[in-house]
Amino acid sequence: MTLNPTVLTVLPNDLDVQRLPQHVAVIMDGNGRWAQRQGLPRFMGHRRGVDTLKELLRCCKDWGIGALTAYAFSTENWGRPLAEVEFLMTLFERVLRRELQEMIDEGVQIHFVGDLQALPNSLQEEIERAMVATQHNQKIKFVVATNYGGRREILQACRAIAQKVSQGKLTSDEIDEEIFEQHLYTAGISHPDLFIRTSGEMRVSNFLLWQVAYAELYVTNILWPDFDRTEFHRALHDYQNRHRRFGKVEG
Ligand code: FPP
Repeated sequence: MTLNPTVLTVLPNDLDVQRLPQHVAVIMDGNGRWAQRQGLPRFMGHRRGVDTLKELLRCCKDWGIGALTAYAFSTENWGRPLAEVEFLMTLFERVLRRELQEMIDEGVQIHFVGDLQALPNSLQEEIERAMVATQHNQKIKFVVATNYGGRREILQACRAIAQKVSQGKLTSDEIDEEIFEQHLYTAGISHPDLFIRTSGEMRVSNFLLWQVAYAELYVTNILWPDFDRTEFHRALHDYQNRHRRFGKVEG
């Protein structure tokens, strides 16, 4: 499937606009390997990864997809070499500062999900600024998972609910899926329909454990910095050939 990139500014005509995923989640894997293959230091892969993410966000917006969630930093990523962790924290902060005005202009509503209090203070301030400045935007939701762990998210929801029960604000019988979801970091954000992982790894890696219950999984060997509109088109094409049954039998 080779396509002229200029054609891809509008939804390719072999995709059905009625059956697009409304929310796409991505694990942006392979930045380090991409850089190493070019003989570059790992951090260059992360830099290129930002360009790829920016382009995917614009593509989702152009093609009418309502939400994009990206896994930028997991609770396990603190175990990377200190220099890489520091580089990533500085990168997030710089990118937010640099891109904020454009995101405001383009109607992007930014959310950050994760244990944000453990992030450097200066980054927390940029995050707060970006979320407040874009809160009324309507074109697309852009959710950045930073210091995010699915297990940690579920645990903190359990703790918050248990606290409400012990304070008499909620009874245990009242706890259902809806109440539970209201206590997740992603409260108010729809579940992903399509879950993409690059670089060929067949793992969920603690990402959106509750929310991906019925997402369609798409794994590609392409490394994240090379995941362009043509590759996204391929993923959407694959998605539209699936039959989503949500555990039911097709009638
Ligand atoms: C995984 O590749 C990538 C990351 C842990 C970082 C991804 C972050 C970005 C692309 C920046 C996003 C920026 C903003 C502001 C949202 P890897 O390092 O695990 O690659 P490898 O598996 O080849 O080593």
